[in-house]
Amino acid sequence: MAKSFSEMEDSNRSGNPSIHEVSDPARRQVLRAGGAAGLGWLAALGLAGCASGGSGALLATVPNRATVKMGFDALPPSTADSVRVPLGYVAQTLAPWGEPAGIAGAPMPAWKPDASNSASEQALQMGMHHDGLNYYPLDGGGSTSRRGLLVINHEYTDDGLLHPGGLVPWTADKVKKAQAAHGIAVIEVERAAGAGSAPGAAGWQMVRPSKYARRITANTPFAIGGPAAGHPMMRTAADPAGRLALGTIGNCASGKTPWGTYLSGEENWANYFTAADTPTAHERRWGIRKANWYRWPEHDERFDTVRHPNEPNRFGWVVEVDPMDPQSTPVKRTALGRAAHEGAWVAVTQAGRAVVYSGEDARFEYIYKFVSRDTIRPARPGVSPARANADLLDHGTLYVARFDANGRGRWLPLVAGQGPLTPANGFADQGEVLIKARQASDLLGATKMDRPEWLAIDEATRWVYCTLTNNRDRGKPGFPDVDAANPRAENVMGHIIRWQEDGDFDGEGFAWNHLLLAGDPANADARTQGNIRGDAFGSPDTIAFDPRGLLWVGTDVSTSSMNQGPYARLGNNSLLCCNPATGEVRRFLTGPVGCEITGATWTPDGRTLFINIQHPGESPSERSSPEEPSRFSNWPDKLPGSRPRSATVAVWREDGGVIGA
Ligand code: FEO
Ligand code: CA
Ligand code: CA
Repeated sequence: MAKSFSEMEDSNRSGNPSIHEVSDPARRQVLRAGGAAGLGWLAALGLAGCASGGSGALLATVPNRATVKMGFDALPPSTADSVRVPLGYVAQTLAPWGEPAGIAGAPMPAWKPDASNSASEQALQMGMHHDGLNYYPLDGGGSTSRRGLLVINHEYTDDGLLHPGGLVPWTADKVKKAQAAHGIAVIEVERAAGAGSAPGAAGWQMVRPSKYARRITANTPFAIGGPAAGHPMMRTAADPAGRLALGTIGNCASGKTPWGTYLSGEENWANYFTAADTPTAHERRWGIRKANWYRWPEHDERFDTVRHPNEPNRFGWVVEVDPMDPQSTPVKRTALGRAAHEGAWVAVTQAGRAVVYSGEDARFEYIYKFVSRDTIRPARPGVSPARANADLLDHGTLYVARFDANGRGRWLPLVAGQGPLTPANGFADQGEVLIKARQASDLLGATKMDRPEWLAIDEATRWVYCTLTNNRDRGKPGFPDVDAANPRAENVMGHIIRWQEDGDFDGEGFAWNHLLLAGDPANADARTQGNIRGDAFGSPDTIAFDPRGLLWVGTDVSTSSMNQGPYARLGNNSLLCCNPATGEVRRFLTGPVGCEITGATWTPDGRTLFINIQHPGESPSERSSPEEPSRFSNWPDKLPGSRPRSATVAVWREDGGVIGA
């Protein structure tokens, strides 16, 4: 989500020092060849074909990415209301909003094009605004590229589009339907048999019904795991034990664990709550105020903090779902800290510890990493990898990043009793440190970043990449100045930062530099030109490594900026391919009008790419007109007046070859 309506993303008014030094692009480092840390553990789990962060066992054989070929002709920018891919490629829409998920034993209510499906029907259908997604192979020892599960985040709703009549009148049933359109979907997909490695004419299809299919919504019970479970700040009237929360919201990016589960970040949850006229200091630091975009509190008092002051503390977590067990209770992992989490991505140390990276997409917020106390446990007879590691993410150490001006950085531990994190400063225990991770990071002097979005981990080289999508307030009066890591004032184009850990992924120091500063060299304003080698883009959001080690970048330019000003020549949001060793960038896919390109996941053979098209046809106000829902786009149905629908897109080569090769 581009979030231009949101004010929560600049609620950091702490006084951390800023570093007044502009980054030196000449200091770029070349990726060095390295060992394949962690891959042995993946093999032990039988999951080497679906390694974390989209990287895979192939990385071990491709230490020098400079030689990896990009074998497609770059696309020009597009303003068309369609998905475009290079010559020789096919793009197919799957599982749009409102399509029945195919839950075994439940009805499969058909999509109603006038949006008149009820709340209970919506709870059995694909939710709205698809975001992060991952592919989980089902057969062949967990490595098949023919049949698998897609787990998909449904980040938020456009209530102008979701209901007949939009928000008028605003009813309890509409709130229930909006809540059912949020959350996560698990669906089963299968590739039609074709000649060679290419799918047949039917392409990819949903398997329905499927025993795996599931919808998780804003009302699904979640266990609370980790040090904040049961904490007084987590207790509510409905849950006096503070151990069972209802629902997940703002589910943005996704990560896959080496033990086969799905991690999803709760991002813009603060926008769902309303507070008193004068919010508490804790609420203000988290962007909760007396204003409400989604209008849930009018019919669901759970989202009114005057009546339920601790309810917001139960959101802002990384949630873990076991897609292979539709009966499993998903868990909020509090040890990873509370934030406007974009998502979470896992690396594995040589010793077998999980290291989880996570950013907080909000202006001047932080980048975190968590190091598990225990090592990843292998599956046992009758015990799945997910079950064997059911509490792995509940014990460990959380750190926040400080990027120093000399190209070095430190991971600062967020541990109660250490440094300033004392009861006198408002941190009674580790639970409070985690619930107030922003306030704790403020005190530690962490670096305020330009909206960290997705991260991607190169297991072979130990370099970790993070998109910093943009920050229009950087350097403005009253806001933090530029620093080495965030070097541009009024940074409307964004950049991609990367770091290499000292030693292993659990190292407490690192070296960093910028992969690139985004922009368009044709712009007159030097601050928006960037230094991209190849196709210009701005507002990077999704990043993910493909099985060959190329880095794919999805953009999220807000609809109010798209094709205007510094974005005038960049077209609709797109998916680009970058060789991180050479910096070369090529545009691979362009999306329909008003959409964001998000999520990127491959089958293990690298021959099918799945991405999500989010909010096609979004209006500049970010809320559609119910009188004219197809004003800006009618993708993907392309019928006169048809509502635009977020959807997954499967991309493959006509000749069955590897994507991008
Ligand atoms: Fe949901 Fe930060 O994008
Ligand atoms: Ca974004
Ligand atoms: Ca995003």
